[in-house]
Amino acid sequence: MTLRLEKRGAVGWIIFDQPAKRNALNDAMWRGIAPAMQKFDADPEVRCVAFRGAGTEAFSAGADISEFDKNRASQESVGQYDTLLDQVLHAIQDSRKPSLAMIYGYCLGGGLEIALACDLRYCAASAQFGIPAAKLGLAYNVEGHKRLLETVGHARAREIMFLGRRYNAEEALAMGIVHKVLPTESLDGFVTDVLQDLVDNAPLSIANSKTIIEEYVKSLGTPDAARMRSAIDRCAKSEDYREGRRAFMEKRKPRFTGR
Ligand code: COA
Repeated sequence: MTLRLEKRGAVGWIIFDQPAKRNALNDAMWRGIAPAMQKFDADPEVRCVAFRGAGTEAFSAGADISEFDKNRASQESVGQYDTLLDQVLHAIQDSRKPSLAMIYGYCLGGGLEIALACDLRYCAASAQFGIPAAKLGLAYNVEGHKRLLETVGHARAREIMFLGRRYNAEEALAMGIVHKVLPTESLDGFVTDVLQDLVDNAPLSIANSKTIIEEYVKSLGTPDAARMRSAIDRCAKSEDYREGRRAFMEKRKPRFTGR
């Protein structure tokens, strides 16, 4: 297992820690992500979850190709692998807490898939992005395609998948893959500030927007109106909503509790 979990203040960090392999994700790492998300979800002290790779050479170079013969070769094992990946993506997307990917260096294949499942993505100028499935003859999974499509649109998704090439940080910014590109030495500080905003802002307000946006970007089927309504209701009748209004009137910083 080379997944490292750290709690820093109100931020839960999930760190891919296999730098000798450019933080490639082995089977144990994939299996560890959903439980890690669930752990942070259940922890009332954690307000948001952030992903990064160990070091600055890679966020993650994708699934650990050295294990493919063992765990992603037969039709049956590919199915099992995709089910596992779906569980990981849903654990991130369905979490009520906002998630962020801080990206140095390579962000490829499954690494990009995880980054795209996060709510926010910030990268260093050194970052490189791509999904080289077509270069491996690999059938990229359904949920990964769906998220890519939602993020970059079908024309760009076709190019990314068909060509399997790598894109630099500025190209990724133009495609909407990342929100901002920072000089390498500024990324940590910038992300720290963003995470502080996520920590300070009203959890139910963020969860409400996350729910509604997730429902609307579902490209298949109709958004679940009841789910969105209940997220609105939960936020609308919260103590935090009252506290936010009061704090504004009293010209002070609100103290949000998530209730
Ligand atoms: N799975 C397993 N091992 C990986 C890996 C992956 N996805 N990505 C990199 N590694 C390993 C390399 O095999 C190499 O191992 P070695 O030192 O035992 O030879 C080590 O990490 C360093 O990689 P290397 O290729 O020497 O580094 P680089 O800086 O020149 O290139 C990459 C980095 C990421 C561009 C290149 O390694 C690469 O293309 N990796 C595969 C990416 C990929 O196809 N991902 C999608 C998987 S679905």
